[in-house]
Amino acid sequence: MKIAFFSIFGFDKPFFEKLKSEQHEMVFFNEQLNKCTAQLAKGFDAIALFTSDTVNEDVLRLLHNYGVKYIALRSVGFDHVDLQTASELNIRVANVPEYSPYAIAEHTVAMILALNRKLILADNRVKRHDFSLGGLTGFDLNGKTVGIIGTGKIGSVLTKILNGFSCHLIAYDICEVESLKTNYGLKYTSLDELCQTSDIISLNLPLNKDTKHLINAHQIAMMKNGVMLINTARGGIVDTQAVIDAIKSGKIGSYGMDVYEFEKGVFFFDKSETPLQDDTLALLTTFSNVLITSHQAFLTNEALEGIAKTTINNINQWAKEGKSINDLN
Ligand code: NAI
Repeated sequence: MKIAFFSIFGFDKPFFEKLKSEQHEMVFFNEQLNKCTAQLAKGFDAIALFTSDTVNEDVLRLLHNYGVKYIALRSVGFDHVDLQTASELNIRVANVPEYSPYAIAEHTVAMILALNRKLILADNRVKRHDFSLGGLTGFDLNGKTVGIIGTGKIGSVLTKILNGFSCHLIAYDICEVESLKTNYGLKYTSLDELCQTSDIISLNLPLNKDTKHLINAHQIAMMKNGVMLINTARGGIVDTQAVIDAIKSGKIGSYGMDVYEFEKGVFFFDKSETPLQDDTLALLTTFSNVLITSHQAFLTNEALEGIAKTTINNINQWAKEGKSINDLN
């Protein structure tokens, strides 16, 4: 197959280059896929895409006209893809359903610890040779209630890690995982009860029509004063303005954000040479109790290797049998 890779970055390209073979011709484009760049896909059977690419109806129709039959997503999430239109156009779409849930769960824990123990503030202070401790007090994780929303692959690993900190673990999910209850004492509750009783809340579920703005002003009002909220799932699961209001009022005591509702075109890119155009993001960067990483929770060697292998496997299966076990449509 002839495969065009869009939004290829310095961090993932080497993992695909390692898997180059006679079987496929791979061409790498730095460009993000959108209406203007879709023409680059002319003459390719398959394209391999990242979460920063746009895969809406207009783009899919262009891809169809250019002869693209397969879209291999280099991600777990597929909320950025119009699957219905892809099916209508007979374009197969597959994702990488699992690469390393450890990468994202561990990043979540890194955010919890960094926010709680004010590591960024402390480091900045020490670098200025200010060795005072005022304002750096945290809390013991031992015995605190952590609410995990979404106990799939990532939420399950997070449960296991936090059990090691002796946290009291509660969860909300539409499906319950029995082994998490027996192995780690995890207790499933309603979303409302989770919001009312958690000291820390972590979001680990997909973005879809049911979960869009799941965390909104109504849910936040139920939360404990000073709650810590961590989002390593998808930006649109929280109503960003409601979160900002709650940070200003002190309702949310700290916020760890690896994903942002309006991240497209900003996260993953160096924007340091131009003024930031997004006032909401600019405001979020000013809060000392908000820790922001630009969608980097997945960024480990193991995860990148897993993404590359599964992406190429999906393409190999399409080449051989016309379908892949990870087909979404
Ligand atoms: P998964 O599919 O294994 O687990 C998702 C869980 O969410 C499932 O248990 C499911 O039942 C639950 N869920 C779905 N809809 C729900 C609803 N309406 N209410 C309550 N629970 C619901 O997915 P996995 O691998 O754990 O990933 C979770 C999400 O993490 C992905 O969908 C993706 O958006 C995000 N992610 C973020 C990354 C990052 O770098 N920040 C990297 C990889 C994934």
